Amino acid sequence: MIETRNLHKNFGNLAAVADLSLTIEEGDIFGFIGPNGAGKTTTMRILVTLLEPTAGKAFIDGLDVRRNGKKVRKLVGYMPDFMGVYDDLKVFEYLEFFAAAFGIERKKRKSIVEGVLELTDLQSKQSAAVDSLSRGMQQRLGLARVLIHDPKVLILDEPASGLDPRARIEIRELLRELKRMGKTIMISSHILSELEEICDHVGIIEHGKLVFSGTLEEIRPHLGIHSKVRVQVANNQDKAVELLSALPQVRQVQALGDEIAVTFHDDQKADGVIARTLVKANLDIIAIQPEQLKLDDAFLQLTKGIVH
Ligand SMILES: Nc1ncnc2c1ncn2[C@@H]1O[C@H](COP(=O)(O)OP(=O)(O)OP(=O)(O)O)[C@@H](O)[C@H]1O
Ligand SMILES: [Mg+2]
Repeated sequence: MIETRNLHKNFGNLAAVADLSLTIEEGDIFGFIGPNGAGKTTTMRILVTLLEPTAGKAFIDGLDVRRNGKKVRKLVGYMPDFMGVYDDLKVFEYLEFFAAAFGIERKKRKSIVEGVLELTDLQSKQSAAVDSLSRGMQQRLGLARVLIHDPKVLILDEPASGLDPRARIEIRELLRELKRMGKTIMISSHILSELEEICDHVGIIEHGKLVFSGTLEEIRPHLGIHSKVRVQVANNQDKAVELLSALPQVRQVQALGDEIAVTFHDDQKADGVIARTLVKANLDIIAIQPEQLKLDDAFLQLTKGIVH
């Protein structure tokens, strides 16, 4: 649904985007992750026809964005990183204004605006002035705005930045709802952990280059990060340490107080092996807790130049 092929964008001598190729499947939520200045906004602006690439191609739903600007703009809802300020406009007026700008017939506008207000849970604020809204509400209004022309593809530049945890959860829920409606969503962030739960795939970009693209599961082997499990037994911890150390899948075993930290060579179904080994030896298991690889850790590893 979204594709870039060897995309380049130079600003003078600076390569803001360098040879970027990525593919986002229909119905996916794709997290586009990178530090400040990595090239996220530049890539997104090219995809939504606001910026011409220096070289390479970009496609939305098979349409070359340079040749089919008008069609592409109909397919895409773009939420920029900063929303313009519209003094003296009420929420409802603001959305009607954009409905008119998208060429939606006057008599249909009201019901469409009501629909997006409901979806973004902003009905109670429809008569409030846009500039009186909190940041979280403004972000929701930004989403309401990009939904007006019912685009298949949403390109959202840091929709959760500056939001408190509750507002972030609300945005996340809204994104899930949009996915259920069949939208393809590309969303950028450097607050990584917030994308972890909703993204099907992630792309990590640094200095304009894609350093990784795939599922979170796929990041793991790239990093050489060994997955870890914390084990607690009710009796005979020494015996447990001894047995677990002898397992071929296990790289390292450490006793930490009443817990045992077990590190694997790879993460394939290792908790099952642990459970079976301990049960066979009549050890009572209190807990076997896998330690998830957090996206933040993955990101730090990747952008330290461990993977190229
Ligand atoms: N119009 C422009 N003219 C010159 N340089 C630009 C322009 N737009 C972006 N850049 C540069 O291109 C690089 C990529 O910027 P971009 O805004 O795409 O990064 P980003 O990943 O969105 O960063 P952030 O997380 O801070 O939003 C930066 O070094 C930036 O300074
Ligand atoms: Mg940006």
